[in-house]
Amino acid sequence: MTVQKTLSILKPDVTRRNLTGKINAKIESAGLRIIAQKRLWLTRAQAEGFYAVHAERSFFNDLCEFMTTGPVVVQVLEGNDAVAAYRDIMGATNPANSAEGTIRKEFAESIEANSVHGSDSEENAANEIAYFFSQTEIVG
Ligand code: CMP
Repeated sequence: MTVQKTLSILKPDVTRRNLTGKINAKIESAGLRIIAQKRLWLTRAQAEGFYAVHAERSFFNDLCEFMTTGPVVVQVLEGNDAVAAYRDIMGATNPANSAEGTIRKEFAESIEANSVHGSDSEENAANEIAYFFSQTEIVG
């Protein structure tokens, strides 16, 4: 087991429905610590920059549009194998395929408004964390 950091985003469908506490309770119950956190209203340019890896995908425009419809909460999670541990509790990207007990199964509205984002590798986690946080904002 390795102690890792991963980036978590609580998406606009979460802030709109006042679910940030419920979702973070699940994250903390799973043993992950929130070691940095901020609430932001992403600009279009910030959303496009963050999701640049998906720029050629058919859903890119709608995804960036959705991510700017309201505030998000960006946060850094730390824990044992945090990248995989967080992905496990998030559940599959499409809530129709998410396992019982996962965040997306319980809260997601659709594949787009799927409540949470989590980094998919340790390398991407480092890049995604640096996209939103400076080192001094991360307090383990
Ligand atoms: P996320 O983990 O934030 O990474 C990219 C997002 O694109 C994904 O969650 C989904 O919310 C969104 N998305 C919308 N349509 C699709 C799709 N067909 N396949 C994958 N991701 C999609």
